[in-house]
Amino acid sequence: MLKTGVLISGRGSNLQSLIAACATPGFPAEIACVISNKADAGGLDHARKANIPAHVIPNRDYPTREAFESALDAKLEEHNVQLVCLAGFMRILTPWFVNRWRDRLINIHPSLLPAFPGLDTHQKAIDYGAKLAGCTVHFVRAEMDHGPIIMQAAVPVLNGDDEQTLAARVLQAEHKAYPQALRLIAENRVNVFEERTFITDATASGEALFNPEA
Ligand code: GRF
Repeated sequence: MLKTGVLISGRGSNLQSLIAACATPGFPAEIACVISNKADAGGLDHARKANIPAHVIPNRDYPTREAFESALDAKLEEHNVQLVCLAGFMRILTPWFVNRWRDRLINIHPSLLPAFPGLDTHQKAIDYGAKLAGCTVHFVRAEMDHGPIIMQAAVPVLNGDDEQTLAARVLQAEHKAYPQALRLIAENRVNVFEERTFITDATASGEALFNPEA
């Protein structure tokens, strides 16, 4: 069982999808702890309900980013965490932390990277007129929303979409993609070579997603 730590700052719907996946029989990962930098993060309740150790480490209590990240690191080590999942964790991590957890630290971002990194990604996709949106699970590098891609899922952008409707459609895909990426890693099927990943025994339907369809 791959011991996984999840870092959150907010509502934790992706955390919930990981908790649900880990509860299914035969799933090769378990959530060893959840850490939030915000005491009021809704996701903490998901962890507590599932009897997963839930910790609050407020970044404001620490004089520097490094001191905050040392506390995160110590808590992850205390739980013998092998892989860290960022799930709506709203702090930029320093190169020290990122390199310490290199290829053992993953993130989910709600766009098809490298398009639309950063915040307001759904509005940016709508404003640009993109016809496909989606999400990306990737290994974390020091540059924000950058790093070897493990998995992507695409959804259409529809004519009447606003930020909320598009976000909701992408979020549904996120809730499938993140557990699947975790499974691939836990099954040792993800290899990083020259900043690309290669997935052992990967399958895909081969079908194109068209938008518009006619
Ligand atoms: C998700 O859209 C995720 O892709 C992004 O932050 C959001 C977190 O949502 N990194 P939740 O807290 O998992 O519901």
